[in-house]
Amino acid sequence: MKSLFASMISIGAYAPKKLLTNADLETMVDTTDEWITKRTGIKTRHIAADDQAASDLGYEAAKLAIARSGLLPSDIDLVIVATLSGDYLFMPSTAAVLAGKLGVRNIPSFDVLAACSGFIYGVATGKAFIESGMASNVLVVGTEASSRFMDYTDRSVCILFGDGAGACVLTATDDESKAIVDVKISGDGTLWDYLTIEGGSRHPVREGGEHPPFMRMKGNETFKLAVKTLSADVVEILARNNLTSEAITHFIPHQANLRIIKAVGETLKLRDDQIVLTIERFGNTSAASIPMAINELYESHKLKTGDLMLLDAFGGGLTWGSALVRFGGK
Ligand code: COA
Repeated sequence: MKSLFASMISIGAYAPKKLLTNADLETMVDTTDEWITKRTGIKTRHIAADDQAASDLGYEAAKLAIARSGLLPSDIDLVIVATLSGDYLFMPSTAAVLAGKLGVRNIPSFDVLAACSGFIYGVATGKAFIESGMASNVLVVGTEASSRFMDYTDRSVCILFGDGAGACVLTATDDESKAIVDVKISGDGTLWDYLTIEGGSRHPVREGGEHPPFMRMKGNETFKLAVKTLSADVVEILARNNLTSEAITHFIPHQANLRIIKAVGETLKLRDDQIVLTIERFGNTSAASIPMAINELYESHKLKTGDLMLLDAFGGGLTWGSALVRFGGK
């Protein structure tokens, strides 16, 4: 029997039209364009329209990814959505809503809740389903309308996040040259309180008051740990696959902070042309940031079949992960 691999055969993304610039934020909180640019690398973020929820953004990205895969929506046999800003509070899942919008019925769909690492967790899950023979064509979507959970009086968080979506199709193949090489996911639940959004059963939304459903972050602690953890993580995934950083065509990190990306890039001694940056225009789009960045590469004709991508992400949970992916699309 031939080995079964999972291949990422297509990518798509969507960013809502409305822009939130650093100049806009200067009128909302005590901040400056200079501080934001210097400390984060962000200039603008996209913000979902009032009638757009996470599944609406994800739907646009998913349609594109499915069309580019050459498959039909009816060929998809598993939908995984990574999000921290789903349409509904826990039920139904955003994956179920998205599957409904795509018109695909009688297939499993579920959300992966791993904050900014969600897309890599989703790819890990899709890969495992394919390699075990439980699915053949998996749609993995990272989508965020996290502006809905921003406290636009908290300057330490609201300047960072933007909305958007990215999606890919994973399919079964026996061609190793187009396969996902390795995915490594991890986390540390003892540090759950570094990034939170209240409103669940600990402090239900109806209590309101002291626990509004806004994103809160221990920014500086998270920053330091992200640099340390991601630097070690990417070194480890390369080592366990007997690869060096020269083998990487594109390094596509989660876009949380330009300084984190630069620090990890320096650890691996990567050239600038290996590093994909979208943070200046999109900010931190959480689970959507990696597929949105892959889509940027694709649409600028820089992503070729067989190119080796190194993905990495760090987020609430705490969660983190990295992946080595040979692009299987055209
Ligand atoms: N504008 C101006 N000043 C600001 C500010 C803003 N938007 N936000 C914070 N500050 C101030 C702070 O109040 C603090 O002032 P003080 O020294 O007078 O107390 C100073 O800037 C430094 O704050 P600090 O939080 O130490 O800054 P930082 O260098 O850590 O940068 C973040 C803040 C949020 C940009 C950075 O910590 C970060 O990117 N964190 C991690 C993001 C991340 O990786 N998340 C993981 C997945 S989402």
